Amino acid sequence: MTGLSLVSTGFCLPEKVVTNADLEKLVDTSDEWIVTRSGIRQRYYIEEGDRESTSTMAIAAARMAIERAGLSTEDIGCCVCGTVSEDYACPNTSALVHEALGLREDIPVMDVNAACSGFVYSTIAAKGMLLETGNKYALVIGSESLTRHVDMTDRSTCVLFGDGAGAAIYKLTEDTPYASILGARGGREILTPGSGTRDIHIKMDGRAVFRFAVEAIPRCIGTLLSKSGLSLDDISWVVLHQANERIIDHCIKKLNAPAEKFFKNIDHMGNTSAASIPLALSEMEGKGLFEQGQKLMIVSFGGGLTWAGALITYGK
Ligand code: UT7
Repeated sequence: MTGLSLVSTGFCLPEKVVTNADLEKLVDTSDEWIVTRSGIRQRYYIEEGDRESTSTMAIAAARMAIERAGLSTEDIGCCVCGTVSEDYACPNTSALVHEALGLREDIPVMDVNAACSGFVYSTIAAKGMLLETGNKYALVIGSESLTRHVDMTDRSTCVLFGDGAGAAIYKLTEDTPYASILGARGGREILTPGSGTRDIHIKMDGRAVFRFAVEAIPRCIGTLLSKSGLSLDDISWVVLHQANERIIDHCIKKLNAPAEKFFKNIDHMGNTSAASIPLALSEMEGKGLFEQGQKLMIVSFGGGLTWAGALITYGK
C-alpha cells in the first residue's frame, strides 16, 4: 500500500512565555484551576508587530524541517499549511512560505482551514497531491497565532491558547501500512473570527467540545486500527491534538490503552490548534524518541466540528 513516512520535522516558537502566574494578574483565575482543568502551565505568545506572525513562524519551521531532512527546496513537491489564524487570506501562508524559501514553481501550495484538525487534514491532502503530481516529498505545516484573537478578559478561553508552528517533511512510501480518516459535523461550538465576520474574539463552548473530543478521538483511533488491520500493540506512538490533558487521559482510559504511547506536551505549549501535532512531533524528534520504521498515529479534533487521523511511518 502507498503510505506516508515522516522524514523530519521543524518548529518555531515565539520568544514570549506566558505562565499561569502571568494570567492570574489579568483575569480571575488560578494556576491550580488551569492545571487541574487543562494541564497547561505555560504557553507562548507572539509579540505585537510584524516580527512574529503565523507566516514567519511557518517559514522558520519549514526551513528547519527541510534542513533536518537533508533535502533541498527543489525536492519539495507540495506545500500545505493548516491554519485558522493566517496573516492574509491572500497570499495564503503556504504561498508566503513558497516565496521565502524559493520553492519550485510547478508545485501546489495551499492552506487548509480545518481548525485544530488542520495539520492532519493537510497531511492527508498532501498525500493526495503527491499522488496527483508524481512528486515524492511534501512539506506540511501547522502554524497559528490564535492569541491575536483571544479576548484577554475572557478567562474561559484566554488561559488555553498559545502560538507556534511545526512542520513536517513526508515522503510517499511503498508497502508501508497507512490508513486515514477525515470527517466533519457542522457546528458552531468554536468560533474563530474571519474576514467576513464582525466578531474579533474566539468564543467556545468548552464543555460541548470536551464531550465531542472524547467521543471523536477513540472513534478515529478505532477506525485507523480496523482499516489497517493493526492493533495498538503495533503502534509506537499516538500523537493527539494537545487541547487538554484531561481529554487525552479520558481517551487513554476509554481505549484501555498504554498511557506511555500517548505523547503530551500541553503543559508547556498550551493549545496551539493546528500547530499542536507538528510541534509535538518536532519535540519528539528532537528528544530522539523516534526510531526508523516505527508506526505512528496522529489524531485530531477541532472546530467545525472536524476530526482527522492518519497512521504513518517514521523514517528517511
Ligand atoms: O482545540 C480544540 C478546542 N477546545 C477544546 O478542546 C476545549 C475542550 N474543553 C475544555 O478543555 C474544558 O471544557 C475547559 C478547560 C475549557 C473548561 O473546563 P471545564 O471543566 O469544562 O469547566 P467549565 O467550563 O464547566 O467551567 C467550570 C467553572 C465555571 O464556573 P461556575 O459556573 O461553575 O461557577 C467557569 O466560570 O470554572 C469557571 N472557569 C474558570 N475558573 C477559573 C472557567 N474558566 C476559568 C478559569 N479560571 N480560567
